[in-house]
Amino acid sequence: MSTLFFSKAKYTITIIIHLIILVHRSLALSGPVDPTQGFVSLPFNRSYYHIQKPYDVPEDQRYSFSNGIHKCWVYSTDKPHSLSSRTEPRTEIAIQGYGYSSGVWQFEGYGYVPTGTSGVCIMQVFGASPHATTLMLRVYNGSLMYYRSQVLIEEIYDEWFRLNVIHDVDGSKVKVYIDGYPVLEADGRGGTYHAFKCGVYAQNDDSFYMESRWRDIKVLRKSD
Ligand SMILES: *[C@@H]1O[C@H](CO)[C@@H](O)[C@H](O)[C@H]1NC(C)=O
Ligand SMILES: *[C@@H]1O[C@H](CO)[C@@H](O)[C@H](O)[C@H]1NC(C)=O
Repeated sequence: MSTLFFSKAKYTITIIIHLIILVHRSLALSGPVDPTQGFVSLPFNRSYYHIQKPYDVPEDQRYSFSNGIHKCWVYSTDKPHSLSSRTEPRTEIAIQGYGYSSGVWQFEGYGYVPTGTSGVCIMQVFGASPHATTLMLRVYNGSLMYYRSQVLIEEIYDEWFRLNVIHDVDGSKVKVYIDGYPVLEADGRGGTYHAFKCGVYAQNDDSFYMESRWRDIKVLRKSD
């Protein structure tokens, strides 16, 4: 009788200990990760990007770079980035020095969006087929969204956040991390040429003034 009691108690205690270990492990797993592990950071300077801005205004009226901070702004009434373009206004850092068509690529940057900026794409993975983009991160009314379909972060205004976007071209997947936490895994959307862009690119229901800031931008490639 008592032997059975003790063996049952021992059994129960063993189960409880295992549960505690499991909970502990899952908590540890849900902490922030470093998405750049296994990637190599590539050289990055002005020769790898150019600024797309309304074609009829000088660059310094829509973009500045000081104290390591890129600031991009645009107005809803601005012209497209070229005379022949029919797209919405934009001021974007276009990292076309690292155009790619295969492999696993990563964008890292610290972003900041001030209150009021809305209806705008702040980061994109350019290139897809038949669409123009594989990924758009947009801000609507203070929320960071995947296109206009899924809220990734409820409140993004007035705070620096670390953004990591991983594009696995061959696996046709994109992953997004905010402050080291995974917030999105989505399918690729085809295309044969891609490049990262960040800044402000007006979408639907855009605010009159749109701005985003970026610092410590990196382009990384998965090492073989
Ligand atoms: C940018 O970096 C590349 C590679 O490190 C270098 O060759 C080039 O001179 C740099 N350009 C500028 C404008 O600093
Ligand atoms: C943002 O807020 C405005 C005004 O409240 C509303 O009309 C609009 O639908 C909202 N946009 C989104 C994407 O929720």
